[in-house]
Amino acid sequence: MKPVKVGLLGLGTVGTGVVRIVEGHQDDLRSQSGSPIVIEKILVQNREKARSITIEPSKLTEDPYEIIQDPEIDVIVEVMGGVQQTKEYILEALARGKHVVTANKDLMAMHGPEILRKAQEQRCDVFYEASVAGGIPIIRTLIDGFSSDRITKIMGIVNGTTNYMLTKMTQEGVSYDDVLKEAQLLGYAEADPTSDVEGLDAARKMTILSTLGFRADVALEDVSTKGMTGVSKEDILYANRLGYVLKLLGIAERQDDQFSISVQPTMVKNTHPIASVNGVYNAVYVYGEAVGETMFYGAGAGELPTATSIVADLVAVVRNLKLGVNGLQQTPVYKEKKLKTDEQISSKYFILLHVEDRAGVLAQITQIFASHEVSLESVLQQPNESNPEAEIIIITHDANKAAVDRVLDQFRTLGVIRKVKSVYRVEG
Ligand code: NAP
Ligand code: HSE
Repeated sequence: MKPVKVGLLGLGTVGTGVVRIVEGHQDDLRSQSGSPIVIEKILVQNREKARSITIEPSKLTEDPYEIIQDPEIDVIVEVMGGVQQTKEYILEALARGKHVVTANKDLMAMHGPEILRKAQEQRCDVFYEASVAGGIPIIRTLIDGFSSDRITKIMGIVNGTTNYMLTKMTQEGVSYDDVLKEAQLLGYAEADPTSDVEGLDAARKMTILSTLGFRADVALEDVSTKGMTGVSKEDILYANRLGYVLKLLGIAERQDDQFSISVQPTMVKNTHPIASVNGVYNAVYVYGEAVGETMFYGAGAGELPTATSIVADLVAVVRNLKLGVNGLQQTPVYKEKKLKTDEQISSKYFILLHVEDRAGVLAQITQIFASHEVSLESVLQQPNESNPEAEIIIITHDANKAAVDRVLDQFRTLGVIRKVKSVYRVEG
């Protein structure tokens, strides 16, 4: 059996896990794929850096072309991160007939269609299971497991850092700044945590999931994105008191072939299955017209969970090599993209207002909701102990986003409303 030779681009957290699994599970991998898998060369930035695994020094290189242009190498595993340079390396590897496995959600969310087209032209595989929700096999599930169904909703906790932060803020009352520092120390957050807390990391992952789930070419710009930087302890307390938890949720919904995708802090009813996903864990809830509710849960990051997905992709490439069917996967995208307008996006909302505490204020507020045809599920008023204002907590019935935005615009000009303190979408 001729070994399949792999060039590994990157030997950080994930690359190290790939080496450990390929070496540690060699017998099983050979039995399942039909060939030994050998890591031939590894690209790093600094060959002298101390590593947590023993690597034969001659395997390490700082020159990417020593790998990409090596005719002996069959598959490139890209776990170095970054976008522009990485895209160049991957396109060149494909041009030379090499198959590609990547964990790079930034790259796949921004340039996935171009890379997949090039792969098809070259009859090469490009697999990217690890790019979303680390160790959860959600990409293959959406492509293959749901091929017979029509998916109408995908909800994801797809960023472990923010889920860890919100869980700590909810369960232990830790402040935003303190818990962010802790998440960085634990290595959950990206090098620059802005993309975690501002929702961009989750938006990239939702771009990939909704492209596969709705079989349409979703772009990152199609995802309406709001991060968790504005979430306060007060909001979390109110959510809990009303029977909800606050989660940074990616939500992709489809109705009559039109869809919307967003990432935003959301109040989730505490009886919904996704409400109990805590800590650094990820989960993807998928609703299919025929299958109904499903949910996939597990580690969304980390050395071995992420590497598990990558090596499973490697096995898939090797099996395809044996069968001679690389690059023959049907494109997952064949539907026209029709995005909903704000008038067509419907959900319940939680709104917290700080208002003057005097007669007639509530009447003015409910009048504005009525004039925009937004119906209310509950209204609760209570004095604010720290100042003479009152707090009004409103949960709407399902309402269209544009109408709610018009209500909020009017609130911001109404004298008796001191502050529109918080607004959250409500799920479940
Ligand atoms: P990392 O720990 O920072 O490792 C990056 C590796 O790539 C290092 O070995 C580094 O070399 C090498 N590298 C980076 N830029 C390079 C360049 N320009 N030329 C040569 N080598 C370069 O990153 P990671 O956490 O393993 O993440 C890798 C990828 O997996 C990213 O796309 C990330 O988004 C994705 N991912 C990560 C996780 C996770 O849990 N960490 C989960 C899912 C997906 P040196 O070692 O010499 O510095
Ligand atoms: N920073 C990311 C997270 C890593 O917290 O989920 C995995 O993509």
